[in-house]
Amino acid sequence: MTELRVAIIGGSGIYRQSFIENSKEITLDTRFGKAALKEGIYQDRTVFFMARHGGGHTVPPHLVNYRANIAALKALEVDAIIATAAVGSLRREISPGTRVIIDQFIDFTKQRPLTFYEGEEGFVVHTDFSEPYCNEVRAAILKAGKSLGQNVIDGGCYICTEGPRFETPAEIRMFMNWGANVVGMTSVPETILAREAGLCYATIALPTNYAAGISTDPLTQDEVLAAMEKEIPEVEELLKASITEIKSSPACYCREAGKNYPGE
Ligand code: HPA
Repeated sequence: MTELRVAIIGGSGIYRQSFIENSKEITLDTRFGKAALKEGIYQDRTVFFMARHGGGHTVPPHLVNYRANIAALKALEVDAIIATAAVGSLRREISPGTRVIIDQFIDFTKQRPLTFYEGEEGFVVHTDFSEPYCNEVRAAILKAGKSLGQNVIDGGCYICTEGPRFETPAEIRMFMNWGANVVGMTSVPETILAREAGLCYATIALPTNYAAGISTDPLTQDEVLAAMEKEIPEVEELLKASITEIKSSPACYCREAGKNYPGE
């Protein structure tokens, strides 16, 4: 048994990680449905890899079974999760090729199950989101990115839309006024569920394009995937270095936040 268990949730364009050794495919049955992932080793750490949209990118953002995915990682006793997320940039200075280690989100989703706490516990659970992403995992990614000379930005607000359509320019103007920096379709409820389950979680937001209206060209999924394709080698380096930077006894309150997690 290795000391630290880290999971990577790969977003659009990130469907596998070649550095994970002795990897085997596993499927877990959770009370929310099945979750498929790979388990292997990187250095002295047990590493899991999960493709959020499925290996062949078949699951749209509003239909990802976020609860099954996080419940599976909890059942596997994962300590920390590093997620990647393709995003549109709302700011000229956040160009494609930067990595935004987001620290806030705004929830603009409409119809997704958002919680593990559906009242079955017999009490109401309100979870603190003053620090929505784990600062310890964020710090590990930032340190790793800086040591690799990558363009990592410390903090940013991610607005999560329902998708799967891209936004209108009017929505983007409103999101900019609200203080959002990047837009994507998946960080909610993934972030929420990880915290409710007591798992440390952070996201590397990867801008693939300027958002609608900032870019005057129509947006396409192919453009997003082509931009991600170029990033894969560097993102893989960043993930490897981040995994080794994660501490085994973090000073965050993520575990404590999950003390009411209902379990399987
Ligand atoms: N909007 C929403 N999600 C995205 C975008 C975007 O512009 N680019 C990549 N994911």
